[in-house]
Amino acid sequence: MTPLQERFLQLKRKRGAVVLAHNYQRREIQEVADYVGDSLGLSYAAQKAEGEVILFCGVHFMAETAKIVNPEKKVLMPDLKAGCSLADSCPADKLAAYLKGNPGLYVVSYVNCTAAVKALSDVICTSGNAEKIVQQVPMEREILFLPDRNLGDWVMQKTGRKMRLWDGDCYVHMEFTAASIDRIRKEHPEAPVVAHPECTRAVRALADEVCSTEKMVGYCRNSPAHSFIVVTEEGMLHRLRREMPEKVFIAGPTDHCACGECRYMKMNTLEKAVVALENMNPEVLLEAKIIDRAKAPILKMLEWSRN
Ligand code: 13P
Repeated sequence: MTPLQERFLQLKRKRGAVVLAHNYQRREIQEVADYVGDSLGLSYAAQKAEGEVILFCGVHFMAETAKIVNPEKKVLMPDLKAGCSLADSCPADKLAAYLKGNPGLYVVSYVNCTAAVKALSDVICTSGNAEKIVQQVPMEREILFLPDRNLGDWVMQKTGRKMRLWDGDCYVHMEFTAASIDRIRKEHPEAPVVAHPECTRAVRALADEVCSTEKMVGYCRNSPAHSFIVVTEEGMLHRLRREMPEKVFIAGPTDHCACGECRYMKMNTLEKAVVALENMNPEVLLEAKIIDRAKAPILKMLEWSRN
């Protein structure tokens, strides 16, 4: 434990804060969080969080989701500018105009979108439950899936259900290519490849398992293999190495480097997290009407996901 981590834990106790961190956060943040998980696990954890304050270490849409499911809490973030290329690809006004021109669509929104987009959606999903959610949409309805066309394509492959796809992507997962993954597979032929569904179809086709970050933990734990090639944001390696120190986790390389880092996730630092608890700021604030409208599709997801 570093002195800064000790300072952080002192402040966390003083403020009665619950610290929620995504699997992509820096190692020093994951080590002091109350809960580390994927977007779905974090939504449930936010819903049942007790105390006055949630310090959310992830990106902005995730902290917004925490606020929507538990609006009485003060939700802090280390850095409010930690955004998401997927959320940016689908502005609410553009979606509203599209829906006006294409009435009757059933909108399934990946959680990686703004609260204003969630407010226009019928149901939300995460990478951990997308297949299950889409299977529960009434068959007679045409689905618009947004904003990630790769996740949408994967869900179509899994369910056989045709959907309209929004043209968004995650810039980090787009950096992995079939050539870069093929190369690393040849270097480590014994290691299964585990990839996130935000990767392109060509990359997914080279994977032994495609799943959410939380399911990656279970897959690697239950597999008899000793080493794994992990094709997602590099923060995931910290989580896997902490949980399974006896196994070897190899970062899936991109064409240019072996980094796979999300610049937004990495905006959160432990220093900024300490300052946030000291100042009780910056806070995630949302208009009451957005909270009201965005809550229904999120709660629908949480309910459908338990089925
Ligand atoms: P999950 O949290 O569902 O694994 O998704 C990871 C991700 O890419 C978030 O942007």
